Amino acid sequence: GYRAEDDYDYLFKVVLIGDSGVGKSNLLSRFTRNEFSLESKSTIGVEFATRSLNVDGKVIKAQIWDTAGQESHKEMMIAYQDLESDLRMEFVSLVFSINLVWYRAITSAYYRGAVGALLVYDVTRHSTFENVERWLRELRDHTDPNIVVMLIGNKSDLRHLVAVSTEDGKSFAEKEFLYFMETSALEATNVENAFAEVLTQIY
Ligand code: GTP
Ligand code: MG
Repeated sequence: GYRAEDDYDYLFKVVLIGDSGVGKSNLLSRFTRNEFSLESKSTIGVEFATRSLNVDGKVIKAQIWDTAGQESHKEMMIAYQDLESDLRMEFVSLVFSINLVWYRAITSAYYRGAVGALLVYDVTRHSTFENVERWLRELRDHTDPNIVVMLIGNKSDLRHLVAVSTEDGKSFAEKEFLYFMETSALEATNVENAFAEVLTQIY
């Protein structure tokens, strides 16, 4: 029968996490709008987009949340360098308290109700892979233990620059009971598969 365009059987919240610049926003835009941007800016605040998929004849609407992977105080610390020295202490303590309140409020809102997560690193930057453990800890601290987590090694198109082998990604994922996929938001490789697999596993 007829179904309204916005009709769905299940609504699942999925969060994107991982270091700044790993490609979270481009994975989101590739999946929800089939768009990619080489010059995308770091995300400010929290954004989200939705897309519906058919799984077993059911319409699953994914609400995907995206935020910046960087520490928000970076720009403020640059501003700090330019201040007169007697203003600095006051500025620093103000920035620290604002950051703490902000971080706690945003983090808990961001993770609240999430049933799936894509934890993204950049296969060309090893540090982003090393930080996966930290992201995983934050995720576990804020979400239900049953959350479906997929580890994503993004930018697989940059074959000549690979710094994290597929084997290393895979074995870390196995050790931590995560799903694993290498993707390219640029070439649209495995992006659809990764989101669809997470949504199917949730369902
Ligand atoms: P924050 O918002 O700062 O946390 O970063 P992000 O994780 O959202 O990264 P973003 O999607 O903005 O991408 C960062 C840069 O990497 C951009 O220049 C993208 O064009 C590029 N990029 C993203 N995905 C890919 C990919 O699959 N391959 C290549 N070659 N570049 C990519
Ligand atoms: Mg972003």
